[in-house]
Amino acid sequence: MSAPPGKATARAPANIALIKYWGAEEVDEGLPLNRSLSMTLTRCVSLCTVEAHPEEGEDEVFRVDDRGGLDPADPPFAGPVLRHLERLRRWADRRVRFRAATRTGFPMGAGLASSASGFAALTLAAVRALDRDPDPEELSILARRSGSGSAARSCFGGYVEWPAGDGDDELDPGAPARPVLPRDHWDLRDVIALVDRSPKKVSSREGHRRAETSPHFATRLARLPERLHAVRRALEERDFGALAPLVEAESVELHMIAMTSRPPIFYWSGGSVEVMEAVRTLREEGVRACFTMDAGPNVHVLCPAEDEGAVAERLSALDAVGGLIRDRVGPGPSLVPDHLF
Ligand code: PMV
Repeated sequence: MSAPPGKATARAPANIALIKYWGAEEVDEGLPLNRSLSMTLTRCVSLCTVEAHPEEGEDEVFRVDDRGGLDPADPPFAGPVLRHLERLRRWADRRVRFRAATRTGFPMGAGLASSASGFAALTLAAVRALDRDPDPEELSILARRSGSGSAARSCFGGYVEWPAGDGDDELDPGAPARPVLPRDHWDLRDVIALVDRSPKKVSSREGHRRAETSPHFATRLARLPERLHAVRRALEERDFGALAPLVEAESVELHMIAMTSRPPIFYWSGGSVEVMEAVRTLREEGVRACFTMDAGPNVHVLCPAEDEGAVAERLSALDAVGGLIRDRVGPGPSLVPDHLF
């Protein structure tokens, strides 16, 4: 009789980058050309159950629908998951057949880091199903190798840098992510303005590949360490006045690189611009808020807890905004007892 399958379910958060990962030495291995820094979120989470059967055979990948039913995943979703499961199987040196199911509780592929949370959850669930217990740094290296590099940052709560350094600017692209400040250091909020829920047309994977074709990319890389230090200092000192212009400049620069890549990539929509303008107006009125966008049209508006109400009220009144997710800095991934199947 064969041994019973190992089964585990993990929950892992998305994160919003304050300093963005854009451009890779090796996209598929998630080896970045620059250091990034993010805030882990609380409400934007993915759940993933992995079952490892001690026998050879075809792996199966499912998505969980709104009513809890299992649907076989379509090839664009299943492909990267199957490749990652194969990588984890080799890492553990085990002959097993996987069944994996994922539920993502927020719009996917729309610049909200669904792949970071999904791959962090898949990695944790799979290693536990394989009865392995890597430390968080090793977990972050495994998650990064999914091809969604920013999944490395979703392996920790609070404010997270990746790749971790020893205080110098020398980049070791293979280093793990590491938390720089705990979440209770500063209860920042992230009011996400949804202007378009449809999946983006150009993946961030493709964006990383094209980044170096922008004539501005080398300048960006040269100047980034200084900005990262300044963002870290603003976080340490809980200085929103210092943080806001740095975060906005960084976001605009990421999109400037994308727009000047060959061929160019435009993630902004008219609605994104409307939200960014509303944030500037709010600031003129004395509300502390700043915007940042990942590879998609939806806008993350960061603010201290006391300003969240004013931000949410203004953004929800905009024609372009079809909904808000009111999120905040949060904890890292965890195992949960209730399985998806
Ligand atoms: O980790 P990836 O390959 O999904 O790329 C993330 C790219 C950005 O979200 C735009 C920036 C970041 O650092 O999260």
